[in-house]
Amino acid sequence: MKIIMLGAPGAGKGTQAKKIAEKYGIPHISTGDIFRANIKGGTELGMKAKSYMDQGQLVPDEITIGMLMDRIKENDCQKGYVLDGFPRTIPQAESLTKALADMGDKIDYAVNVDVPDQVIVTRMSGRRACLSCGATYHIVYNPTKQESVCDTCGSQLVLRDDDKPETVLNRLTVYHDQTQPLIDYYKKAGVLAEVDGTQNLDKVFQDIVSILGE
Ligand code: AP5
Ligand code: MG
Ligand code: ZN
Repeated sequence: MKIIMLGAPGAGKGTQAKKIAEKYGIPHISTGDIFRANIKGGTELGMKAKSYMDQGQLVPDEITIGMLMDRIKENDCQKGYVLDGFPRTIPQAESLTKALADMGDKIDYAVNVDVPDQVIVTRMSGRRACLSCGATYHIVYNPTKQESVCDTCGSQLVLRDDDKPETVLNRLTVYHDQTQPLIDYYKKAGVLAEVDGTQNLDKVFQDIVSILGE
């Protein structure tokens, strides 16, 4: 099963993608996590990406598309995957559609997690991220057992550099300009599914499972 998660920054794409990956036994591929791992590792890709990410801008398509295409050719992707944060522009979506079509394949579901902007800003300030395993928590809505320590891998949690309120507002503007048009793109492709992302984490997941099937 090949799934795309759509939605604004902070809508809960990463949170739900992790649960989907676990339930359906497919890899969770987050372009944001790949960039953050590269920044942490001090790679050239990481340095390039950081300058864009810190300002809430998108990393250019020339960098992002090739990186994602390489990832989905890896062995663990044969049974499918859940993409989180890709595609984010029409050219990214078109490249993905074409690459899959060349293999006689297509996306099965594009799940749009719908959350209004006002809710996003409050969510982001309470988010805590694990840069080692990609897990995401919230100090109120999804707390860890031990403060600031990842439940999954035991690493120290951080506030992401791009979660400052002014950067969040830039990310929302970029989202509305460049990523929101993908909702229509996947609606036309007949694979769009909408869920109400303002509900609690478990209810959002239940709605997603009812779309994807048990
Ligand atoms: P990326 O890492 O993808 O960030 P994003 O899209 O801005 O999304 P977030 O990860 O911030 O939010 P999310 O939807 O995953 O929400 P989460 O589950 O954490 O990208 C970062 C940057 O990398 C981009 O700005 C760009 O520069 C670059 N980039 C990445 N991909 C790119 C691409 N394809 N092209 C170009 N550039 C790219 O949830 C948020 C918080 O809310 C958490 O604290 C969570 O616990 C909480 N929460 C979640 N669900 C609920 C709920 N139902 N109720 C209450 N709280 C909830
Ligand atoms: Mg995320
Ligand atoms: Zn972790």
